[in-house]
Amino acid sequence: MRRKLAAGNWKMNGDSGLLDELGTLATSQTAQAPQIVICPPHTLLTLASFRAQGSPVEIGGQDCHAETKGAYTGDIAASMIANTGATHVIVGHSERRDGHNESNEMVRAKVQAAWAAGLNAILCIGESEAERAGDATLEIIAAQLQASLPDDATAANTVVAYEPIWAIGTGKVPTLDQIVETHDMLRAELIDRLGVEGAQIRLLYGGSVKPANAAEIFQAQNVDGALVGGASLKATDFQPIIDALAES
Ligand code: PGA
Repeated sequence: MRRKLAAGNWKMNGDSGLLDELGTLATSQTAQAPQIVICPPHTLLTLASFRAQGSPVEIGGQDCHAETKGAYTGDIAASMIANTGATHVIVGHSERRDGHNESNEMVRAKVQAAWAAGLNAILCIGESEAERAGDATLEIIAAQLQASLPDDATAANTVVAYEPIWAIGTGKVPTLDQIVETHDMLRAELIDRLGVEGAQIRLLYGGSVKPANAAEIFQAQNVDGALVGGASLKATDFQPIIDALAES
């Protein structure tokens, strides 16, 4: 059985005041709650780890550098993220791939850096609107998975998040059939490549997940949870998504 996971990506939002939302989440979980990971901006990682201490909520970074240290102004190493008490890091988000020209090879190196620091990697892949329109979705995301997921990935150190770029922050969501199709294909690829581990690696859907559509999305058998942006900023939005996941 794969443990369900609700991950929140705060992106470049929030100052210390937003940690009250995290405090609310930390104190409202039941024993049946899925795994919960909140990824605030790096400036809040240490405070967030303190706020989440002793609760079921875990903390993650939103990106890391592939190198362990050095002259990389403005970057942050995976070990620095781990040192704050965080357990996860998102890598390869489309906002990094597009906005910072990150290639599959760079993303793959970041996954390995995350593991070396003892972090779980949340590896993001997803097609653009033009690729979807050109019927290239399955081919594109299979190629991204192939090139950015290292061969020795395990269910204990990696989560894969499928996020159609055109669905991120837009309110547009693929149909349930499309979500089933992509996640089933990704599951088959993972098993083909990694065997038992591939069957156990969690697959998240991301892109405009909201309280109103979460239950439908979680019907897909190979959707093990969600990577949520906008709706993770408020506990009153994120909690119903967590609840829908727990009930799925
Ligand atoms: P969204 O973002 O939920 O705001 O669409 C998802 C993401 O980018 O991870």
